[in-house]
Amino acid sequence: MSSDKLQVGIIGAGRIGRVHAESLAFRIPEANIVSITDLNRKAAEEVAARCGIKEIAESSEAVFADPRVDAVVICSSTDTHAGLIAQAAKAGKHIFCEKSIARSLREIDCALAAVAKAGVKLQIGFNRRFDPNFARVRHAVTSGEIGKPSLMHIISRDPGPPPLSYILVSGGMFVDMTIHDFDMARFLIGDEVEEIYAVGDVHVDPEIGNAGDIDTAVIILRFKNGVIGTIDNSRRAAYGYDQRVEILGSSGKIETDNCYPNAVTISTGSAVQRDLPLNFFMDRYKDSFAAELRAFVTAVLEGTPTLVNGLDGRIPVQMALAARKSHEERRPVRLDEVTA
Ligand SMILES: NC(=O)c1ccc[n+]([C@@H]2O[C@H](COP(=O)([O-])OP(=O)(O)OC[C@H]3O[C@@H](n4cnc5c(N)ncnc54)[C@H](O)[C@@H]3O)[C@@H](O)[C@H]2O)c1
Repeated sequence: MSSDKLQVGIIGAGRIGRVHAESLAFRIPEANIVSITDLNRKAAEEVAARCGIKEIAESSEAVFADPRVDAVVICSSTDTHAGLIAQAAKAGKHIFCEKSIARSLREIDCALAAVAKAGVKLQIGFNRRFDPNFARVRHAVTSGEIGKPSLMHIISRDPGPPPLSYILVSGGMFVDMTIHDFDMARFLIGDEVEEIYAVGDVHVDPEIGNAGDIDTAVIILRFKNGVIGTIDNSRRAAYGYDQRVEILGSSGKIETDNCYPNAVTISTGSAVQRDLPLNFFMDRYKDSFAAELRAFVTAVLEGTPTLVNGLDGRIPVQMALAARKSHEERRPVRLDEVTA
């Protein structure tokens, strides 16, 4: 380590790149941003100006070649992740990479092999594990507070779809969006899923269907320990970001509601109302994004394992590919049917 702070390079200055740059610049004093790069230089310049980053690197290669950089935060589009992880590892940089690691297990295995060979740390951006509500749900399961879990329901609906250009390189809804819920399912129940049945359709935007993707789905999960789970996804929720979980156990249940900008209710002669929930991930999960990066920085500085490792990144992609196969073939699919 070149100093007592972790020296970081950021690759990608889009929606999530900006969120991570702000966390590192303003909320994590143990880190320093050396440079940021983006194919769209203007995007990098805007984030740099906002976050006080002194240097715009010409390319990801320039970031990897920079001896001042200890670790990289990969925030570019999903189709670039596996290649960038492999290059970063070869250059000896520790890696935080956004979900999803890649769109196929073959690509993921190449990237993870490069990480193992280089002996660098890798953390995948499953930020919801760092959200205090979901952490409390997990605690209720591990502590036995609700007894033995039998049912789990995840509702995960975006306020609106991303641009078509994003969807085209995302790997599709299961790989891009449901991936968070697959991670949550494993994290909350603490067991692996063995079979998936997915039903999906296009209800939000026909253009998404024309691009070969879906925007609405229900997925049924059967865990090895017998728990049955459902995930309910939509790329549209007119009332904002809808992120809820309920787990039923033998001695009770635990549930989390959405998060609101305030706790106010307004009662009149015609209605009792409250404001809409926090609108999207940049607001709803702001603290968890900072917490996951803080955990990554700590893991590198203190030489401890990262809390979301490469395998934690791989298994949800396998689940997503099983869900896609199930949707396409209209049948339940076992996870071990998906190998590449
Ligand atoms: N954890 C979360 O909740 C969360 C939320 C949003 C996005 N993401 C993930 O983050 C990634 C980016 O998503 P986004 O919404 O910020 O997308 P975005 O389209 O807003 O931004 C992506 C940026 O990466 C840049 N880019 C692409 N290839 C590059 C390369 N080789 N080198 C440098 N820059 C490159 C693009 O020019 C663009 O500015 C995706 O993989 C997505 O799945 C995660």
